[in-house]
Amino acid sequence: MRLFVNVDHVATVREARRTVEPDPTEAAVLAEEGGADGITVHLREDRRHIQDHDVERLLRIARGAVNLEVAAEETVLSIAERLRPAQVTLVPEKRQEITTEGGLDLGPASRGRVRGAVTRLRAAGIRTSLFVDPVPEVIAACADLEADAVELHTGEYSNADESERDGQLTRLASSAELAAQLGLAVHAGHGLTYENVGPVAAIEVCEELNIGHSIVSRAIFVGIAKAVEEMRHAIDTARAEG
Ligand code: PXP
Repeated sequence: MRLFVNVDHVATVREARRTVEPDPTEAAVLAEEGGADGITVHLREDRRHIQDHDVERLLRIARGAVNLEVAAEETVLSIAERLRPAQVTLVPEKRQEITTEGGLDLGPASRGRVRGAVTRLRAAGIRTSLFVDPVPEVIAACADLEADAVELHTGEYSNADESERDGQLTRLASSAELAAQLGLAVHAGHGLTYENVGPVAAIEVCEELNIGHSIVSRAIFVGIAKAVEEMRHAIDTARAEG
């Protein structure tokens, strides 16, 4: 199980003052020291946290893979094509949202736009993942689009109360199985914490988790390397126990 650490919220603190610290790329180096396999950053169209220069610097200094999250929009797709990170995850984006809400819309009206983005990224030699809700028809659409991977949106699982959690976990596990059967690599993320990551980490076909807010929150108290180490431990323990 690969752990990708999302360092957007280090940049959120910096942008609160429009200054130079804390530096998300410095956090990335420390996250790798703590056991992150890769670093995720979301280059939002409104540039509310990560900036273009962060992505450029991250690609120079990261030892592991960089997963760049972008919307399927020209302004950011062309940056992805130029910078060529190892992986791009296409995400939906709304200006007013606090964080990414819901997975990509792959209905008839928007599928063509996503298909165009996948084709462009593939031509640039970039592995492409689609951030989607755990819904069978949507997973099938991702296979039709010939993406390399799906990132299953774990937000509803994370927000579920105790009575709903098992149902949400079953949705994630069966979507993961379907994706794997259709030849897609399976990733997951959003809202995962030290407390709720275990059952998702135990989904055997899932090979990558993207986690940001919980790790950055913990890092305020224990430092980023230690916070990542603790998450790694939670994931590895759940995985070993099945
Ligand atoms: N995956 C995607 C596609 C996201 O947009 C985000 C949030 O930026 C995450 C994972 C990480 O979510 P969280 O910060 O809640 O761990």
